Amino acid sequence: MQKTTARAYSNIALVKYWGKQDAGLRLPMNSSVAIALDQIYTTTTVEFGDQYSKDLVEIDGDQFSDEESQRVIDHLDRVRKLVGIHLKAKVVTKNNFPKGAGAASSASGFAALSLAATKAAGINLSQKDLSILARFGSGSASRSITGGVSIWYTGQNSQDSFAEAIELPKEWGLRVLLVFVGNLKSKKVSTTEGMARTKATSPYYPVAVKEAGKNLQRLINSIKDKNWSEFGQVVEDECYRLHILCMTTRPNLLYWSNETVAIFQKLLNLRDHGITGYFTVDAGPHVHIICQQSDADQIKSDLGKITGVNKIVDCGISGPAQTIDQHLF
Ligand code: DP6
Repeated sequence: MQKTTARAYSNIALVKYWGKQDAGLRLPMNSSVAIALDQIYTTTTVEFGDQYSKDLVEIDGDQFSDEESQRVIDHLDRVRKLVGIHLKAKVVTKNNFPKGAGAASSASGFAALSLAATKAAGINLSQKDLSILARFGSGSASRSITGGVSIWYTGQNSQDSFAEAIELPKEWGLRVLLVFVGNLKSKKVSTTEGMARTKATSPYYPVAVKEAGKNLQRLINSIKDKNWSEFGQVVEDECYRLHILCMTTRPNLLYWSNETVAIFQKLLNLRDHGITGYFTVDAGPHVHIICQQSDADQIKSDLGKITGVNKIVDCGISGPAQTIDQHLF
């Protein structure tokens, strides 16, 4: 059994996943598309061995909460079952960004864990099978295995719900500016619980799922046609679609802060002057801005002046999850 370390990158959804058709299999209600970010990642080291009498899980120097720890142990169980071993493991994880603050730590986390744990247990899975395995840990993790720009298919069963890379026009020179705002504390309601609540209570859910399918097709067409403004429009339509669902969930889920909206307004204002940065937000207040290289500096400079903007991370598109040589223990 070989100690193994893997790194996987966070991803921001352009077409959003919010709700499951099968919670046990973690099959989503709709297909989604995301960009993986080269500056925001999780590194995880896994070692199985008979020196461990129980699974030891450590994240960013702390122990996980019981619930989070159990989720990691459940994932180790999936790997043990796949490989046919009973050994316990030590898992040490480091995020280079605050966990649970809407920067999708579960995506990069379960992607890194899936790759490190399978290799540490002695098996080499294909990218497709790793994506399926990662999906069981957290749906969005299926897309962090692929990295780049990826589409995660809804699927009819477990074996056909995985992520696959797609290409964007190279001439867009796409950047993603991740703007951290307000406080960076963990969100109170997990995405798993939040989306289950939305599916059960938002009166708009059935229509919003249909809309996701239409938006996916629009996004794919905009990529094919190299139509930047339509691409950006779909990204923002999807952001609103997710948050309308959240806001109409009972009890309501409001992820935006004053700063979130101030950033939207600034971007709309810049657009009137020919600077095209398009916003999207996942389950937190932080804003991801999709823009072209040529506009990135102007956008950073203007948004940096907004009170409450803490930090702007300028990201390119990452590669897939990968193993690295530097172990965390
Ligand atoms: C808003 O993948 O965290 O980021 O499968 O229950 O772990 P679980 O959910 P998760 O949900 C991500 C939701 C989102 C949108 C997206 O990434 O598509």
